[in-house]
Amino acid sequence: EDENTMEKRPPVVCVMGHVDHGKTSLLDAIRHTNVIDREAGGITQHIGAYVVDVNGEKITFLDTPGHEAFTAMRMRGANSTDIAILVVAADDGVMPQTVEAINHAKAAGIEIIVAINKIDKPSANVERVKQELTEYELIAEDWGGSTVFVPVSAHTGEGISDLLEMILLTAEVLELKANPKREARGLVIEAQLDKGKGSVATVLVQKGTLHVGDAIAAGSAHGKVRAMMDDKGRRVKEAGPSKPVEILGLNDVPKAGEIFVGCATEKEARNFAETFISQNKMKLLEETKSKMSLDDLF
Ligand code: GTP
Ligand code: NA
Ligand code: MG
Repeated sequence: EDENTMEKRPPVVCVMGHVDHGKTSLLDAIRHTNVIDREAGGITQHIGAYVVDVNGEKITFLDTPGHEAFTAMRMRGANSTDIAILVVAADDGVMPQTVEAINHAKAAGIEIIVAINKIDKPSANVERVKQELTEYELIAEDWGGSTVFVPVSAHTGEGISDLLEMILLTAEVLELKANPKREARGLVIEAQLDKGKGSVATVLVQKGTLHVGDAIAAGSAHGKVRAMMDDKGRRVKEAGPSKPVEILGLNDVPKAGEIFVGCATEKEARNFAETFISQNKMKLLEETKSKMSLDDLF
């Protein structure tokens, strides 16, 4: 893409790690530091992603339970995130899902920042975690490497602002850019059918800008954006790169990890969705065929 049309965009961050190491608690603690949320009174989560404002700089956090969307996106070869926060409990150390998370992030080429959590616990051992992670080529700066490690406590809030600062520094190095002045393109984070509203999809805009009124295709679904809501539940008219929004107006419920595209016309959007459906049918047919031949063999 033309370098002149590219503009700086916020980093998109996900949190990964072993069960009970504090992923949800950490996301909650981060959300609590967000001044804008506090001013709005109460912290209500509206969609599976949220934007934190750190002195005017934005960070988009994906908050997908069980990392389903993340895994789905990876399977489709689409990367949703720029930076993964690897949460490792300081009292527990590296565990099987820690290693799984590292492998996922490495395969996707995502930058890893290590958050050593639960440092408030008497049994916390930060140095042991650093030592264990050297085995996976995640080497802390004070151990002679270049991986960013931030000791934190989701409970006391210690280290949370350092973590946010390190995310922004890492994003700066990555030089994340996108062209906001083109048709929107991005990923479905989650979607469901609402009795009153119909198909409700949370999407992450990756390129371009999505507007209310735009024709859109998302996986096998298509339509026109009827209304758009940001992560704070506010109605918005447009959403640029790295912004998560909830949209209404699709004729069907797309799947997490599917790509959405803004289209010039509703006809184009329908064509896009129909092509997606027929491609999926072909894939299914091929899979069935290969299963059949396996059955024939054995
Ligand atoms: P799963 O989603 O089930 O994999 O767990 P998780 O990684 O989201 O962990 P969660 O945030 O649910 O925290 C697990 C437990 O650890 C809870 O009992 C939390 O209260 C506790 N916990 C999380 N962070 C901290 C921390 O910084 N300090 C202490 N002492 N406990 C913590
Ligand atoms: Na838990
Ligand atoms: Mg959790």
